[in-house]
Amino acid sequence: MEGPVDQLGRGLRDLRISLTDRCNFRCRYCMPVEVFGPGYRFMPREDLLSFEEIVRLTRVLVPMGVGKVRLTGGEPLLRRGIEDLVAMLAAIDGVKDLALTTNGVLLAHHAEGLALAGLSRVTVSLDAMDPVIFARMNGVGAKVERVLAGIAAAQNFGLKVKVNAVIQRGVNEGEILPLARWAKERRVDLRFIEYMDVGESNGWKLAEVVPATELLEILSGEFDLEPRDPAYRGEVAAHWRHRDGSCEIGVIASVSRPFCRDCQRLRLSADGKLFTCLFAAEGHDVRGILRGGGDDRMLGAAVAGIWTSRSDRYSEERGENTRPKAEMSYLGG
Ligand code: GTP
Ligand code: 5AD
Ligand code: SF4
Ligand code: SF4
Repeated sequence: MEGPVDQLGRGLRDLRISLTDRCNFRCRYCMPVEVFGPGYRFMPREDLLSFEEIVRLTRVLVPMGVGKVRLTGGEPLLRRGIEDLVAMLAAIDGVKDLALTTNGVLLAHHAEGLALAGLSRVTVSLDAMDPVIFARMNGVGAKVERVLAGIAAAQNFGLKVKVNAVIQRGVNEGEILPLARWAKERRVDLRFIEYMDVGESNGWKLAEVVPATELLEILSGEFDLEPRDPAYRGEVAAHWRHRDGSCEIGVIASVSRPFCRDCQRLRLSADGKLFTCLFAAEGHDVRGILRGGGDDRMLGAAVAGIWTSRSDRYSEERGENTRPKAEMSYLGG
């Protein structure tokens, strides 16, 4: 295997880059408004890595095994000039898959530019079809039609689209079937995500998780589904195919069936810290090396050191582990 291998034998394949800790939504499970209100202090501009710094780090990581790159946030479309960054990353030899995770509300404006810049695909979060439930969940009254328009625009410009829906008991489990019907009609790959205990703000309770088995029971009540094998090692979603061949549906069972064993993901925060786990408390600063005159060899050696000492498997240890965790809006989903 090329590149560094961590303490549990996992290679480094997947880089997730957070471009900003800001978001135009206040989803209760991620950025509840009581915590992320008007007085909340987001990162100052000068702390953000520049596009050149992000590209330089990515170039160093590709020979170490990274082939998949995902841009996240907060909401990455709030970062000005994102199309320029996409073009710079798409031009790196070895970046085989370049994706973006977005809440979709600004996607209609950006879809053409992103596609032209060389983005491969987008993953849009959509937790409800019902306008009232959707507005309540996103915390700012955003309209579901705008997200649907964003998805349609992305498809029109040739971007592959996946949709993620976080399901929370008592909040939107009634939306499982409406979302699945919509996705089947539009032939969109929809993945349901178990509500996770990321960060320290969302007041997560196990009782609010709708486990994958229950999700599947609900879906099987209406649809004729058959399981399909993982598309690649470490695929986080388990998938089922509609037997009529129309499309697939996935479940990300990060709570009830953790997938740490195959986790090959490294996360970069917008202010230049590397996180080896979504549930890590602390990151490893690389901005200091990028700005301190260190050369690419030094940068590569630092990342290799971070990766080879990695032993994270939070989701498999859940419950035993009570240390504080960084927010998802800060280190990217
Ligand atoms: P694809 O390349 O499209 O298959 O991407 P992906 O499977 O990595 O999916 P995506 O980036 O859309 O992630 C979907 C969701 O799964 C995230 O928003 C998280 O909620 C969850 N997730 C992704 N990666 C991890 C991870 O490393 N650990 C945990 N616990 N959850 C994750
Ligand atoms: N549990 C599960 N998924 C979450 N996301 C954000 N917070 C949580 C959570 N607590 C998802 C969003 C989006 C992606 C970036 O992460 O819905 O799809
Ligand atoms: Fe914003 Fe996504 Fe978090 Fe919702 S889940 S608040 S859209 S970053
Ligand atoms: Fe990877 Fe950490 Fe998620 Fe496990 S909990 S899959 S180690 S990011």
